[in-house]
Amino acid sequence: MDNVTVVYASGSEQILAVENVTFSVGDKEFLSIIGPSGCGKSTILHVIAGFIQPTSGEVKVSGSLVRQPDQDRGVVFQKYNLFPWKKVRQNIEFGLRMKGVPKEERGEVVADYLKLMGLTEFADSYPHSLSVGMQQRVGLARAYANDPDVLLMDEPFSSLDSQTGERMRELLLRVWSQNLKTVVFITHDIEEAIQLSDRVLLLSPRPGRVHEEFQVNLPRPRSREIFADSRFVELRKRIMAAMFTHTSSE
Ligand SMILES: Nc1ncnc2c1ncn2[C@@H]1O[C@H](COP(=O)(O)OP(=O)(O)OP(=O)(O)O)[C@@H](O)[C@H]1O
Ligand SMILES: [Mg+2]
Repeated sequence: MDNVTVVYASGSEQILAVENVTFSVGDKEFLSIIGPSGCGKSTILHVIAGFIQPTSGEVKVSGSLVRQPDQDRGVVFQKYNLFPWKKVRQNIEFGLRMKGVPKEERGEVVADYLKLMGLTEFADSYPHSLSVGMQQRVGLARAYANDPDVLLMDEPFSSLDSQTGERMRELLLRVWSQNLKTVVFITHDIEEAIQLSDRVLLLSPRPGRVHEEFQVNLPRPRSREIFADSRFVELRKRIMAAMFTHTSSE
């Protein structure tokens, strides 16, 4: 992402949401972006996804300029990831169908992800009959089954209770470690960002700019146990201090 600025027009008002944001994500790197509410996190994700065009600057994925959404980038939102009128199985295979993958092959991929996500017995259920946590598992399976190069996730676990969120984080890390992908993960939760990521980018309050970045040098696999690790505690303190410094200098 190179020098990206996004200005929204809201009636006669202009809202500068994101200003001169530059960063890169390595191949198969897990990057989290954190920052206060309204600082432009979702805006950045939407630009990478190709849902909106930046006012200035550009985004490239594997050297190609992003102009529109494409199957090389999979997106998981906080909610509303699924087609309510399609069964779980059909939701997961949707992208593969669009790509013209033959039925038999689709069936195999879907069966694998259903199993991995613990959803096999819900293959023929509709989303509304599932809990929110299960719906997010279907959303994750759907994004993954499509085998994108880049996975874009916008606070996917923030509406879950803490136990379900914890299970989802462990599940995501397990799936990711088995099939590494480049991930851009948005969250406002510092602990979640550290647990999941190779690197954490801290944005300033709106207009979002890159305030500071933190390398996460903690061993994987990481479970909740990592929260007690002294290196985790130290990094958490540093990130909080950086957030506080920024807020108090406003
Ligand atoms: N479509 C839009 N039209 C006008 N203003 C918008 C639009 N989308 C976002 N904004 C404004 O741009 C700013 C950044 O919004 P964005 O949703 O990217 O923030 P965020 O960091 O994701 O916030 P949150 O943590 O609450 O999800 C906010 O001030 C928001 O009101
Ligand atoms: Mg947002």
